Amino acid sequence: MSYMPWSEALSVGLESVDEQHRWLVDATNRLHAELVKATPDRAVMGRIIEGLMDYTMNHFIMEEELFERYAYPETAAHKAQHDHFTAQVMDTLVRFEDGEDVGQATLDFLKNWLIEHIMRTDKAYAPFLAAHGIV
Ligand SMILES: [Fe+2]
Ligand SMILES: [Fe+2]
Repeated sequence: MSYMPWSEALSVGLESVDEQHRWLVDATNRLHAELVKATPDRAVMGRIIEGLMDYTMNHFIMEEELFERYAYPETAAHKAQHDHFTAQVMDTLVRFEDGEDVGQATLDFLKNWLIEHIMRTDKAYAPFLAAHGIV
């Protein structure tokens, strides 16, 4: 059983979005798999965290462009959550690069944030975007 199993409960019902969320879940699992090794490889962990940062930013841009294109009413509140998360992941990356360990607390934060955000905040936009023809 992986650290953060994908489940249908995480699906927002839009294939293009689910695919990106699955990537984020996979990256979280890859980070966990490295962290629980007897001797975690810092270079591998650094690459995963950087990849998460990159991919997350692109994913958020994709969502926010759709919100703006169709004037989604919850854009500001949704974007505020994205900005807060981006700042946290950036902070993790900086601390990691300064030589700090990235521990279970970071992973728990990632996992909990993703679950909470996808299941509540992202799911809330799905019917709206679906009505605009997004699949
Ligand atoms: Fe999302
Ligand atoms: Fe989102």
